[in-house]
Amino acid sequence: MSALMEKLQETISFIRLSYPHPLEVGIVLGSGLGNLVADMKVEAEIPYADLPHFPVSTVEGHSGKLIFGELGGKKVLAMAGRFHYYEGYTAQDVAYPIRVMKLLGIKTLLLSNAAGGMHPDFKVGDLMLIKDQIALFAVNPLIGPNEPELGLRFPDMSEPYDRGLLQKGAAIALAAGIKVHQGVYVGVTGPSFETRAEYKMLHVLGADAVGMSTVQECIVARHMDMKVFAVSVITDLGIREENNIITHQEVLEAAAAAEPKLTLIFKELTASL
Ligand code: HPA
Repeated sequence: MSALMEKLQETISFIRLSYPHPLEVGIVLGSGLGNLVADMKVEAEIPYADLPHFPVSTVEGHSGKLIFGELGGKKVLAMAGRFHYYEGYTAQDVAYPIRVMKLLGIKTLLLSNAAGGMHPDFKVGDLMLIKDQIALFAVNPLIGPNEPELGLRFPDMSEPYDRGLLQKGAAIALAAGIKVHQGVYVGVTGPSFETRAEYKMLHVLGADAVGMSTVQECIVARHMDMKVFAVSVITDLGIREENNIITHQEVLEAAAAAEPKLTLIFKELTASL
């Protein structure tokens, strides 16, 4: 067995001791979006720091634990706090929890993030269902020896976000009266927010929203043939407003205000699986 598979097996064995039940859905909660947990029937929690081979999250707004329980009548594993490349983790570290989810039997991955809006129709607090992505400055998490037990050396990325889930997510939002956009997310490393010229460039390149997460998780999930659904909460509009200074605090506040809409979509989508 490869060193990676051995590590993963150790992490899985540790988790199974605390939570032996089969899991169906994995959820990653982005900055300021942790409140979904309040809608879960929580059955177990494991701080990242206790998990063998898990990186430890450091960013404000991320509590850093795995939360196991029920949402929408399904067994789910939620990550409260994710690992970002800008924190100094490797792309493989960022990918690690997603691989753990897959080996726990999870087939569907729901990702969320706070993102800067660049599409002219977007407003702060809007949701964007991600229909495609550009992994622009993000290092690919599959660089290095391929793990054939997990997936192919050269995985297809023609449908990073599952079309069926996207349609369902859009229908759920419509029925609930929640306005959602669909668009392209570009992943950058951060941690500096973009310059005005960079926001403009990223929009010209075909992206509607920009953020510092998600793209690596999606790549590693697709490598393992998981279905992925993702939502960006638009927390700032870097491209338009003159003298618009973006702060982390503002991002967290806008995310928290929009969070109930995201939770509703994730919950109903999970119930529909
Ligand atoms: N840029 C990059 N990442 C972000 C932004 C942004 O404007 N907002 C929230 N995350």
